[in-house]
Amino acid sequence: MNNKILITGGAGFIGSEIINTIINKKNLIVVDIKKNKKILDKFKKLKIKYVSGNLNDQKFVKKILNNVKIIYHLAGITKVPNTDINLDLKKEKIIYNNSVKIMTNLVNCSSKNMKIIFPSTHLVFENCKKNKKVFYEKSKTLPKLAYARGKFECEKILQRSNVNYFVLRLGSVYGYAEKNRMFNLPNLFALRVKNNQDLKLFSDGIQIKSIVSVKDVARAMIFLSKNKFTNEIYHLTSEHLTVKKIAKICCKFNKNIKLISTKDKIPYLGYFINCSKILRTGFRFRHYYRNFAKSYLNQNFSPTKIKL
Ligand SMILES: NC(=O)c1ccc[n+]([C@@H]2O[C@H](COP(=O)([O-])OP(=O)(O)OC[C@H]3O[C@@H](n4cnc5c(N)ncnc54)[C@H](O)[C@@H]3O)[C@@H](O)[C@H]2O)c1
Repeated sequence: MNNKILITGGAGFIGSEIINTIINKKNLIVVDIKKNKKILDKFKKLKIKYVSGNLNDQKFVKKILNNVKIIYHLAGITKVPNTDINLDLKKEKIIYNNSVKIMTNLVNCSSKNMKIIFPSTHLVFENCKKNKKVFYEKSKTLPKLAYARGKFECEKILQRSNVNYFVLRLGSVYGYAEKNRMFNLPNLFALRVKNNQDLKLFSDGIQIKSIVSVKDVARAMIFLSKNKFTNEIYHLTSEHLTVKKIAKICCKFNKNIKLISTKDKIPYLGYFINCSKILRTGFRFRHYYRNFAKSYLNQNFSPTKIKL
């Protein structure tokens, strides 16, 4: 029976939210390079099949794709530089190659009935020099660093393939995660405020951030996996907030925090991601940063559940 649902990189931040959101977990298979006891115990407890391995290995990929109909492809290196200052070119190569090799393996080993749902990034426009420009799915891309270049190459691999796909170009994803996954700005600021640490605002916090809740990311990925019309790219960003605004929202829940403006340079001022295309499919955003900050800083979470 061709009915398995594979989550690559499923031991990570977004994967964990997808697993939380899906009610019927019996057809799920999670593949991830992690193999520590904590992860193995977690999946044993959830009664979800967990396979540990490196998706760079084509033979391994071929084996795990047996009877799979949907792939939420989340595996990739995510702790990546966000400026070209002091760039480690060796690491850049690893980031790009890991991303492209895994996608190539998945496409080469998949059958024509499979559907791949792939999170790309709004950073495919990161080299935009014009302030407050609006980008649509059809806009010319401007990737610069290896992470964004790798994502863009993966989009092209999917477009050239015979596989059914959806690409979601995500804003910076925030939401509750284990401490070591709280490193992107909307998560990091919330974590710092929770730990009573002041917030630094580079260039007075004027940079615009495109952000989206991990709960809406999971909902959108599951929503698209049920959609019959495939082979589309969608933008997925629910809010555009300046760094200063993000900081001020967090500070509402801890009055002891100081905002420290610095003259440090920022890589770009920020741009807007137009999301009207995904809204035309009927998908709606339900989660906003203020509510996350409030519940995170008051420790009060409630999972959303969806039947597949
Ligand atoms: N979190 C964000 O802000 C954001 C934004 C845009 C796109 N994305 C993309 O969404 C996907 C998931 O992101 P996340 O935030 O859950 O990241 P994450 O780092 O929490 O999870 C990624 C997982 O992939 C696994 N992995 C990495 N290389 C692997 C390999 N070669 N073989 C098997 N497993 C491997 C890691 O062990 C990790 O558990 C990534 O592709 C990321 O680039 C994330």
